[in-house]
Amino acid sequence: MTTTPRVSDRKPSDGTVWSAPRQVPGVRPSAVDTVIVVDFGAQYAQLIARRVRESRVHSLILPYDTPFEQLIALRPKGIILSGGPASVYAPGAPRCDPRLFDGSVPVLGICYGMQLMAHELGGRTVASGQREYGRTRLFVDDRSDLFEGLEPRLMCWMSHGDSVEELPSGFTTLARTDHNPIAAMAHRGRRQFGVQFHPEVTHTPWGAQVLQNFLYGACGCAPQWTMASFIETEVAAVREVVGSGRAMCALSGGVDSAAAAALVHRAIGGQLTCIFVDHGLLRGGESEQVIQTFRDHFQIPLVHVNARARFLHRLEGISDPEQKRRAIGDEFIRVFDEEASRLGTVDFLVQGTLYPDVIESGTRTAARIKTHHNVGGLPEHLQFRLIEPFRELFKDEVREVARQLGLPDDMVWRHPFPGPGLAIRVLGDVTESRLDLARAADAIVLEELRTAGLMQKVWQAFAVLLPVHSVGVMGDARTYGHTVVVRVVTSEDGMTADWARLPDDLLERLANRITREVPGITRVAYDITSKPPATIEWE
Ligand code: XMP
Repeated sequence: MTTTPRVSDRKPSDGTVWSAPRQVPGVRPSAVDTVIVVDFGAQYAQLIARRVRESRVHSLILPYDTPFEQLIALRPKGIILSGGPASVYAPGAPRCDPRLFDGSVPVLGICYGMQLMAHELGGRTVASGQREYGRTRLFVDDRSDLFEGLEPRLMCWMSHGDSVEELPSGFTTLARTDHNPIAAMAHRGRRQFGVQFHPEVTHTPWGAQVLQNFLYGACGCAPQWTMASFIETEVAAVREVVGSGRAMCALSGGVDSAAAAALVHRAIGGQLTCIFVDHGLLRGGESEQVIQTFRDHFQIPLVHVNARARFLHRLEGISDPEQKRRAIGDEFIRVFDEEASRLGTVDFLVQGTLYPDVIESGTRTAARIKTHHNVGGLPEHLQFRLIEPFRELFKDEVREVARQLGLPDDMVWRHPFPGPGLAIRVLGDVTESRLDLARAADAIVLEELRTAGLMQKVWQAFAVLLPVHSVGVMGDARTYGHTVVVRVVTSEDGMTADWARLPDDLLERLANRITREVPGITRVAYDITSKPPATIEWE
């Protein structure tokens, strides 16, 4: 388990206080067994790391060009080379340091990782001409170590054009497919393995077994990574770093900041003050729950700033989404600044930054599609050290931490919610009455999904109020009312998403209830667009 707390000296004024710092994460060795996922630009690198952690082994993701010395300094028990879009012969194809293959640390190469390993060790990789994509039959010829405990015939998930045609010296074939005679390979003495399929995706349902055979068998890892031990270590570390100092945490209503506050409170008690800037753009009942949970249940000093009128005033006349985000971001910082100044000396700022943010901020080159309001920066005179207890955790791990710390279920399982809140779900002008309509329709969507037991199965679910009226008929009279769109999506990480195939009777209930129970709404539509090309939010 790690013993160095996740505290940084960054000043808020550097403009990155609300986002993750641009640095390679995981630069110190962990006291638990760690496996490093070397990322070659794979779509699935985070998924691999999560699967490893689901097997209770700590994992870190590092870019393929991380210096060898830095990687080895982390004392990994094993290394997994991810897939990637390149071909090993392509000019500029990503390569890792060949010393990774010196046999001192067990290696598992997945897809591109396998091809690269074969290539570096003197085998031959070719563009097979026969692309394998999707569900594919796998014939296992050698069921020791990597395939131990598995059937000889399996269905796996493939996604590749190149394949290994000639094994490097000392390697044997473990499995093949109809089109690919070397679908898995091993050099037992050196504990080096390669699989052409993707064990990390759910379409390879037995993939976890392969990973575990590698982790527990080849690497000798112990399943020690649990959230209970994480909490214990992190609480001790925060206590040590904060000493007799004071910390502050801005609560957003979401699970990340709530769990971060609860953890830090467990460490330093009353030395933590929470600030809840209530901008009036949360969903129904959420403000009340934040106050009740933190003030009444945890008895954490909580400054509740009712800034609803200020935010509404600030949003007056603004209908452009990016302008809304900017206005809300600015106003948030202003209110926060006023409240923080009132508190006197505060040394630390607690944030619920997650591992995906840390990884992405180090590597992301994608064009900015929307400005996320919480990437802003605080005024120069506010200077804190940051405490980010979850810089190395994935969302599902934070939910488990939250559960173990005793946060209410509703908060533990809360879906991601945009910083600008309902302001970007009320398209066009944001007024009190339009917010009320959106909030009422949204509450019905959530209630129905909860009743249907679908809340944990979908990524986000919400109602969007459109700036259009449409004609309806109620009790023989013509109506001309508001239109609401229901958006429910499934996703692994919010980067891509699919619309949820909700049962017909649930959709029907949503339409009936919203039009019946929310006066003024006469039409309900269901959004059947995936991301891409659409985004999850409408603004
Ligand atoms: P999009 O709409 O870009 O959303 O597909 C991806 C994820 O980001 C959330 N989102 C935001 N979160 N501030 C935030 O904190 C924002 O301005 C913002 N816009 C979108 C969205 O809810 C989804 O989870």
